[in-house]
Amino acid sequence: MRTLLIIGAGDIARRALPQLTRHWRVIVLLRDPEKARLWREGGAMPLLADLDVGRSLSRLAGLADAVLYTAPPPDSGNQDPRLRKVLSQLAKTASLPQRIVYISTSGVYGNAAGEWLDETHPLQPQSPRAQRRVDAERQLRAFAMLHSCALTILRAPGIYAANRLPLSRFASQTPLIDADEDSISNHIHADDLARLCVAALQQTRGGIRIYNASDSQPLPVGTWYDKLADTLGYPRLPRLPRAQVQQRVSPGLWSFMAESRRLSNTRLLRELPGCLHYPTVDTLLAELRT
Ligand SMILES: NC(=O)c1ccc[n+]([C@@H]2O[C@H](COP(=O)([O-])OP(=O)(O)OC[C@H]3O[C@@H](n4cnc5c(N)ncnc54)[C@H](OP(=O)(O)O)[C@@H]3O)[C@@H](O)[C@H]2O)c1
Repeated sequence: MRTLLIIGAGDIARRALPQLTRHWRVIVLLRDPEKARLWREGGAMPLLADLDVGRSLSRLAGLADAVLYTAPPPDSGNQDPRLRKVLSQLAKTASLPQRIVYISTSGVYGNAAGEWLDETHPLQPQSPRAQRRVDAERQLRAFAMLHSCALTILRAPGIYAANRLPLSRFASQTPLIDADEDSISNHIHADDLARLCVAALQQTRGGIRIYNASDSQPLPVGTWYDKLADTLGYPRLPRLPRAQVQQRVSPGLWSFMAESRRLSNTRLLRELPGCLHYPTVDTLLAELRT
């Protein structure tokens, strides 16, 4: 059995694990020893290391045939030093991974003023958070080209699931933008993103391939929150003109709210078929109503 190294022992990796252990011997990088038992019970072999501590990564070299990388860059700066450390370790032996699957974000596109965009759209990162992701993508491309390693980048929009809903916005009563000025966004169910990771790891194609790892229904942000409120029986959140919302929310939240784009998932549907069990948020909302 081939060996898969998971870097980023979080929600998506955990959801993918039952499918991954059918095909791979799975090693999972953990920084928290307390989580080791959970992963062992799921069939993975824990390897304790911290992406922020270079010397803890020395055992990564020559370990795996493939890597699933789902850890985010750090919270500051405009680069991803975590990934840089990992790639430099992986390159230290002749036995390199033949395939890397990486979860990026659709934030790398920046604001597209509500336009449709596919994977060929130029990257225009407008926040440091998105710049760090662009840096990560660039590092991976360079590594893949230099070492003839297959690379899949999954650019995910907002991830949601029944236990991953943005309920804090209702608690804080954060206002939404008036419908006629609202931004457009896409979503991806966490289980669908996990299925996409599994399918991408199973691909046999070489080279570099990028996918908008998105559902099929771009939505005005306020429509998503209205649907959620109606489903959960909450009052809808207040609406305000765009300029007033910007004054009332943190710069970090505004950087999410301000960007508007419609992601095309045509390539994903064609090349990674069968992964989207939640083609629209309505599928989950219907489940929540039953
Ligand atoms: N939230 C969204 O809507 C959204 C949208 C697009 C893309 N994404 C990205 O999609 C990816 C997968 O999402 P997810 O929900 O699975 O994320 P998650 O649950 O937060 O998992 C990320 C994992 O990375 C690990 N990690 C972070 N820093 C580390 C370090 N220094 N050393 C070792 N491990 C470290 C975390 O470890 P600990 O468990 O120890 O904290 C965590 O388990 C993430 O990169 C996320 O940023 C998220």
